[in-house]
Amino acid sequence: MYSVLFVCLGNICRSPLAEALFMKLVSEQDLNAVFTADSCGLIDFHKGNLADPRTRHTAKLFGIDILHRSRQITLKDFEAFDELLVMDESVYTQVMAMKPASFDGSRINYLRAFDPVFPGNTVPDPYYQDQAAFEEVHHILERCIANYLQMVRQSIPPKNHT
Ligand code: 4NP
Repeated sequence: MYSVLFVCLGNICRSPLAEALFMKLVSEQDLNAVFTADSCGLIDFHKGNLADPRTRHTAKLFGIDILHRSRQITLKDFEAFDELLVMDESVYTQVMAMKPASFDGSRINYLRAFDPVFPGNTVPDPYYQDQAAFEEVHHILERCIANYLQMVRQSIPPKNHT
């Protein structure tokens, strides 16, 4: 099993949607025995809460239910997950600073790097923005996740397929 952890700041906007989009594609491609995912945030401010109503509303428009409850990243996550995919440079910096020395930094990557249209480092934070920003984030994440899954499917070692 190859496990992926999506990380943003609050774990109520970007990363829970990334997780839901990823697991939807994994199911559609009949890969539930190969991939698993979770999401978390840097802060515990929204701990235990469902995703932001605007995130859930937007996801629903595209046929996706988000059931995840917000949680803060912990040191155990570096033992539990094969790869961490972060949403922006601030998250990257903080996750890199937190990781144990034994955790290979190349297993922490920018999700936006997998955008086939506008690759970069940042999935913009829609929290202080309007509905259009949430829909834009949804489209960005859809592109990144589809491309990421296609690439990681080809690159993970065969042992993970058992
Ligand atoms: P997220 O968005 O990191 O995509 O979940 C945010 C959610 C909450 C806050 C900031 C960003 N906040 O400051 O509470």
